[in-house]
Amino acid sequence: MTTAPFSTSDRGSRRNAATLITGAGGEVGHGLIAALHAAGRRDLVGIDIRELDRPQRERCRETFVGDVCDTTLIERLQSMFEITEIHQLAAILSTRAEFTPEAAHDVNVGGTINLLRLAADQARSHGDLVKFLFPSSIAVHGFADTETKYAAGAVTEDEHTRPITMYGCNKLYCENLGRYYAHHYRQLARDRLDHTLDFRCLRFPGLISAETVPSGGTSDYGPEMIHAAAEGKPYVCFVRPDTRIPFMTMPEAIDALLKLAAAEADQLTRCVYNVRSFSASAQEIAELVREHFPGAKITFEPDPQRQQMVDSWPADVDDTAARNDWGWLPKHHLRSAFEDYLVPSIKARYA
Ligand code: SER
Repeated sequence: MTTAPFSTSDRGSRRNAATLITGAGGEVGHGLIAALHAAGRRDLVGIDIRELDRPQRERCRETFVGDVCDTTLIERLQSMFEITEIHQLAAILSTRAEFTPEAAHDVNVGGTINLLRLAADQARSHGDLVKFLFPSSIAVHGFADTETKYAAGAVTEDEHTRPITMYGCNKLYCENLGRYYAHHYRQLARDRLDHTLDFRCLRFPGLISAETVPSGGTSDYGPEMIHAAAEGKPYVCFVRPDTRIPFMTMPEAIDALLKLAAAEADQLTRCVYNVRSFSASAQEIAELVREHFPGAKITFEPDPQRQQMVDSWPADVDDTAARNDWGWLPKHHLRSAFEDYLVPSIKARYA
């Protein structure tokens, strides 16, 4: 990871160099800002609709409370900074998006296109490629029924991409937008620039963090079960015990983002990569929770609609391309994720 300059760039521009992180207050934002700061990055600019907590603020050179849909904010960023890298983490997750699909579209698609355009304008103004990192999701896949889902096993990036959720539709479309901006943006314009954006996208599975509790997602039953047990609270799981999707711990997700960001461009054979650490059923997660928190009270009361959403997601994904192209290697399987990361960190958190 290179360290970007802290202040005025060496080209005499009076704008400060910046790595932009939107959705900075979310679960991935927390981990990413901490990791980039620990790696010596002092050019971080965090944006979130709520004020960031103090440790987050202290790790950023500047922070903004604002909405990625607000074009005035985007113009302000354009005038203030020389942006070399953008992590567009702002999103309305899958459960919340089903209550307000149009608002989700505004943020997930409208916000992303604002930032893609900002990246293209930045490249035009400072003359260098802007790296654009985008977290996508297993929600871009869509199975009509569980028979097809379980028969398919681990799916590649291009298989079964007919999402049934607004969030999945938004993410899949933004993957395409990213590819368009990177390779075909304004392809008929005489003054088009050949290379403006270096778009790189990870399709995350369900993420489980010991440090933060998720909100608004549908894979949240995994982390919620563990956090509830650690707090001594009963948990009613909203999917059937046999429900299976891939998961990953948050430190592995951050590691994957950093590795993909740092990969040499000529190593990459595609824009979008599957990553996963282990595939687990809700029952398998519950059993490990009970093993580590013997008093845990977990019951299953499937919610038909949320069940249908998770049933439409693959039981596993094939991460061969990520392994081959940029050396992705998961650190954990389910048991080691519990023993080496989740249980010690969660116990410390609630101690
Ligand atoms: N974890 C996301 C969600 O549940 C899916 O990627 O919305």
